[in-house]
Amino acid sequence: MTKKLYIKTYGCQMNVYDSERMADVLAPLGYGLSDSPDDADMVILNTCHIREKAAEKVYSDLGRLKPHQQKKAEDGSRMIIAVAGCVAQAEGDEIMARAPQVDMVFGPQTYHRLPEMVSKAKRAVGEKILDTDFPAEDKFDHLPEERVRKGEVTSFLTIQEGCDKFCTFCVVPYTRGSEFSRPATTVLQEARRLVADGVREITLLGQNVNAYHGEGAEGREWGLARLCRELAEIDGLERIRYTTSHPRDVDDALIAAHGDLPKLMPYLHLPVQSGSDRILEAMNRKHTADDYRRIVDRLRTARPDLALTSDFIVGYPGESDQDFADTLKLVTDIGYAGAFFFKYSERPGTPAASLREQVDDAVKSERLSALQQLLESQQEAFNASVVGKTMPILLEKPGKHENQLVGRSPYLQPVHLDIPENRHASMIGTVIDCKISSLSGHSLFAVPIDDAESGTDSATRHNTARPNPSEPSSGQERISA
Ligand code: SAH
Ligand code: SF4
Ligand code: F3S
Repeated sequence: MTKKLYIKTYGCQMNVYDSERMADVLAPLGYGLSDSPDDADMVILNTCHIREKAAEKVYSDLGRLKPHQQKKAEDGSRMIIAVAGCVAQAEGDEIMARAPQVDMVFGPQTYHRLPEMVSKAKRAVGEKILDTDFPAEDKFDHLPEERVRKGEVTSFLTIQEGCDKFCTFCVVPYTRGSEFSRPATTVLQEARRLVADGVREITLLGQNVNAYHGEGAEGREWGLARLCRELAEIDGLERIRYTTSHPRDVDDALIAAHGDLPKLMPYLHLPVQSGSDRILEAMNRKHTADDYRRIVDRLRTARPDLALTSDFIVGYPGESDQDFADTLKLVTDIGYAGAFFFKYSERPGTPAASLREQVDDAVKSERLSALQQLLESQQEAFNASVVGKTMPILLEKPGKHENQLVGRSPYLQPVHLDIPENRHASMIGTVIDCKISSLSGHSLFAVPIDDAESGTDSATRHNTARPNPSEPSSGQERISA
């Protein structure tokens, strides 16, 4: 690799997957990933348009890149700057106008065209490239098999993109385009390649992942449950997860899969947004709070230990105190293991942005903090409830501290173990039964069950292990807007 590539990823997991794939496309052109923009030959900002703050961040980051770009020019070379992702799709022309230092702007469905775009940008300094097409061809068919990111235990795998649901607050249908599913055969091929490279857990991704309806064997359509069943047949793949699912697309087959597919983890991110029927209807979610309660009941009947997380929006236009109280009531009824919660943010071009009854920011802040308190206490209770239990932990990587490994519980909680460094290589990527010994803040500590049985399970042993500060405090890292 002779050239340095820096990619900054904003937004959802689908952008994380896309950033990795952009690195794969650029590797044959000589670009190697670097973890800082200093001296980079190419910088890609892979952006998110979901809330105003996320979108504005891009412009301030572009400003921050200017001195790096100038220094590179003074040294007689060039830093190509690209804006990709959902802001690029939504505001391509505006980026070009507001940030003349940007060379390339391209949307989420065009990454396979990167080699062409790069060679054009290189040929003519000053020529701007803007590609916000929704091409007829499937970008996934044109991405290289060879992956840059290797040696990881877990991986994302995008199986579905776009959205046709048009919730009134949301930009995704406009930035990602209409819903489509990758053929099951190509998904399975990619999964097998990942497992051959050492991946043990795959998280299937889609904006509405459970609306998946890809072409399967014999030209028949497969739903998500069928796809999970086929993936479960892959030897060496230990765990399957999927995100983000929509309540309307939870079908009988998927509920059954949660009941009888051991590799499908008992953890589900199922956003509800609001507990008020009036607001759910205004949002065009097309289900009621009770519909959601019933779906959760059925899922929990199939898999009693299922941990649930959700997204919530507070202060949607017209949300009254009673509507918000209905949200708190739903949260209390369900009992979440974690959640993301946001103040409603007006997005240009979406139907909700033009509604007159916008909620005052001070009211939004109050509601956000009340909801946060309730969800935090539920998350703490959930984490505390696993202490003393034995759980299979997938060991992922060394912790920040010497002789420490970090893994994940079936419920996506990070778990810290005291394991001597010389055993790390043989243990990373394995699933071992561990006894959860303590909870400190949001961090869980555990002892392998063999050690626990042989009596080395002592408090002092665990006190030597410190949580890794760069790890999310739990699997369900909280974000507030
Ligand atoms: N497809 C998923 C959500 C994708 S967007 C679903 O249907 O649930 C991720 C989350 O961002 C949403 O669940 C919602 O809670 C939040 N979000 C989307 N648009 C928003 C807006 N305009 N203001 C605040 N939060 C928003
Ligand atoms: Fe956005 Fe709604 Fe589609 Fe989710 S289902 S991506 S919230 S429009
Ligand atoms: Fe953001 Fe686009 Fe994902 S708007 S949340 S990066 S689909």
